[in-house]
Amino acid sequence: ASASKGGYSHFMLKEIHDSPLAVKETLSTMMADDSVDKAVKVMSQANRIFVVAAGTSYHAGLIFGRELNMSGFTVIPMIASEYPSYRTRAGDVILALSQSGETLDVKMAIKEFKNEGSTIISITNVIESTISRESDVKLYMRAGPELGVAATKTFVSQVASLLLLKSKILGEKLDYLSHAHEVLEASLEGTEGQMKKWSSTLISAPSMYYLSKGVGLPMALEGALKIKEVAYVHAESYPAGESKHGPIALVSEGFPVVFLDPGIDELKVNIEEMKSRGARIFYVGTSKGISKDEVEVRLEKGLEPFALAPPIQLLAYYVSVGKGLDPDRPRNLAKTVTVE
Ligand code: G6P
Repeated sequence: ASASKGGYSHFMLKEIHDSPLAVKETLSTMMADDSVDKAVKVMSQANRIFVVAAGTSYHAGLIFGRELNMSGFTVIPMIASEYPSYRTRAGDVILALSQSGETLDVKMAIKEFKNEGSTIISITNVIESTISRESDVKLYMRAGPELGVAATKTFVSQVASLLLLKSKILGEKLDYLSHAHEVLEASLEGTEGQMKKWSSTLISAPSMYYLSKGVGLPMALEGALKIKEVAYVHAESYPAGESKHGPIALVSEGFPVVFLDPGIDELKVNIEEMKSRGARIFYVGTSKGISKDEVEVRLEKGLEPFALAPPIQLLAYYVSVGKGLDPDRPRNLAKTVTVE
């Protein structure tokens, strides 16, 4: 098995480093796929688009939802297991996101919405997966097999495929997407050393926050999920502006708060609030002099998730390894959950 790890100590680390290639392959495959245009047509004409997903896939769905909602579309990202709380009607379209294509919660949700008459579009990483077979339009990313339990390269590949769809729906130019893998590469290279350093502090942290705003928020949710999954650190994520409405009560001297800054000036106010309560700030962004723990990433408009994904994934990885855990096989978790 060590050979297939390509010299890396774990699949998770290898797969994080495989991200630029996974994104490149996903984009080139999807750009040549006629089904993409079919999906774009269906979604462009949709009344509402419901995005159905679980776990990490749900966070990718939030990015898609935000982009289109800001342009006047109605996109409703939903946690698959909560499907009974939603009803579709004529003209609604379901976009199911599942890297495995086998998650039972997602299968149950699409079955229900299919019965209600909705068109089902899916994006999976496995050709002819169950969810693909049950879809009217089957789209595929091409991240390659992912063996670590935590989703890493499939997450950024989902984000890439969703940005392609949203740009096509909005009639935007697609050139910017050709930089996605470079932004990932720059971020991997520019943040790994610092994440190793930060991990030595966080291995003893019982609890921490991930805060961000706008396009950074799904990344903060994903950062908190990742570090819970593989490093067993209790982590919560909030929109930075909401952190003053409750969560800040937990903050005292040394409480770790990771700020993911996708280039939003207003975050500085929230950083100051946290600092003044004694929080230890870990800053990812392009501003300087925010904290002694800060790391710079390459932000490009529309590609912010690719700058922020590597540090959150690497931080979870290094905290896990620093605690002597096996990030590839976290307790209580399965790569694919086929039970209710
Ligand atoms: C499981 C995995 C998560 C994953 C979720 C959804 O809970 O542990 O890492 O995000 O399933 O998986 P999917 O294959 O549907 O994307």
